[in-house]
Amino acid sequence: MHYPFWYVPGLTSPMWIAIVAVIHVYVAMYAVGGAVLLVFQTRLAYKTRDKEYLDYLRRHTWFFLLLTVVYGSLLGIGIWWTIGLASPLATEELIHIFVLGWAMEYVTFILEILAIFIFFYYWGRLSESDHLKTGWIYAGAAFGSLVIITAITAFQLNAGNWRPENGFWAAMFNPQAIPQIAARTGGSLLLGALYFFLHSSLFLGNHERLRTRVGRQSANWAMIGAALTIIGGFAWLLNLPASGEAALVGAAVLNVLMTIIFLLTAGVVIMMYFGPIRNPKWLTPGFTILFFGAGLAATGTGEFIREAVRKPYIVHNRVLGNQIRPDEIPQLRNTGYLNGGVWTRAYISHKFPQVMTTEGNEPQSDTRIGQIDGEKLLNLPAEDRRLIGQTIFMYHCNDCHAVEGYSSVAQLTRGWNDDMIYNLVLNLDRFHYFMPPWSGTDAEALLLTEYIQEINHPYPAGLQQGLEEAR
Ligand code: HEC
Repeated sequence: MHYPFWYVPGLTSPMWIAIVAVIHVYVAMYAVGGAVLLVFQTRLAYKTRDKEYLDYLRRHTWFFLLLTVVYGSLLGIGIWWTIGLASPLATEELIHIFVLGWAMEYVTFILEILAIFIFFYYWGRLSESDHLKTGWIYAGAAFGSLVIITAITAFQLNAGNWRPENGFWAAMFNPQAIPQIAARTGGSLLLGALYFFLHSSLFLGNHERLRTRVGRQSANWAMIGAALTIIGGFAWLLNLPASGEAALVGAAVLNVLMTIIFLLTAGVVIMMYFGPIRNPKWLTPGFTILFFGAGLAATGTGEFIREAVRKPYIVHNRVLGNQIRPDEIPQLRNTGYLNGGVWTRAYISHKFPQVMTTEGNEPQSDTRIGQIDGEKLLNLPAEDRRLIGQTIFMYHCNDCHAVEGYSSVAQLTRGWNDDMIYNLVLNLDRFHYFMPPWSGTDAEALLLTEYIQEINHPYPAGLQQGLEEAR
């Protein structure tokens, strides 16, 4: 409404954010947890004068640098690209509230790049203590970046009583910040260790002493990571907004995912204990690939749950799932959803100049374009009404529902009649609290109803037979 929408058939555009973000997190967490493991082990190798260990760590650093800097940075930009396109109003809001945070994040990013390049390319040329210091600067900067970004995304889930006048720091210390930072840090150590297991099993195949050493050292950090993840996870649960709690117990898909994440986490901890801690010989490529896969699955599931419980908001109390602000709703109900946005109003005035009026112009409105007269919309021919219904759908529903595909409205309203659809549209938030309330006029609700009635699927044929009389 305030921005153009990005139509992604079958998937919905916010799902792109989920896909890019999860793939990014897999490497971003390694960049933090892997760094701690790397520098700590380099220190140990220096201390014990273990030349082979050092050589291995240098090779690992090359892999680490390539993956985190090239792949990690590209996907980081990919996230900005997708959130800007799929969720522009929320992105705008997060930039405004957290502008200082983004500036800080930029500094940590530059520090990270410089430090990891020096750490690798000056290996053997710096004194041991300077080399380690560079490593710690890298790890510190990477952790700093985790803290900033996690605090910002935590604000999206629970902003507490935050108001704009409270400012940046109050927003950073939102109720979800510490829990999510703890869980993320723990997850990073855990995932970092899984990368070490995988890499050492693939590249230290015939070097059992070293493989065992790398495995043991990484496993110690992984156990600390597991403990932090579990503590952070419980704190996350305790600090959910009421709507998030309700989603966890109310939505079937989240019931299933919570069970899966519990089992996966338990599985990873058990595998950690019986594998690298008790029997380092188990660290064969087959075992570590399986282990790594379980770690990625647990991380991905965790990310999905974290995002899913945010509905109906994208940014808690500030931006709703359909890209409008909650305090706009009364006005939009009164003067129209299409009328409320620069893009939608310009679109309608371009396509259907005959429905525009200059009467009753709000003082702040653009008088060149005028206002949309809702009643005139209803007098348009059927095919124009369909286009308008579709436009309303794209702006009001398509962030969460595809027409066909992900959470398809055509499927969800299978067999519904006009009354049922109209009733749902007017009472979205009462049907399911996780849908944003209806934010348009009755005329717009009617146009949307007509559109949904046209796309929805009929009641399944076989089922209806025996039931016809009862209906
Ligand atoms: C913020 C996300 C969001 C928005 C925006 C949204 N919905 Fe939903 N809606 C959901 C979710 C989540 C469900 C539950 C889906 C499921 O159970 O698979 C749902 C369920 C539904 C259902 C099934 C209801 C039932 O009880 O059987 C319909 C129909 C529906 N939405 C229509 C719409 C329409 C029409 C719009 C736009 C006017 C809309 N939704 C906007 C998230 C949203």
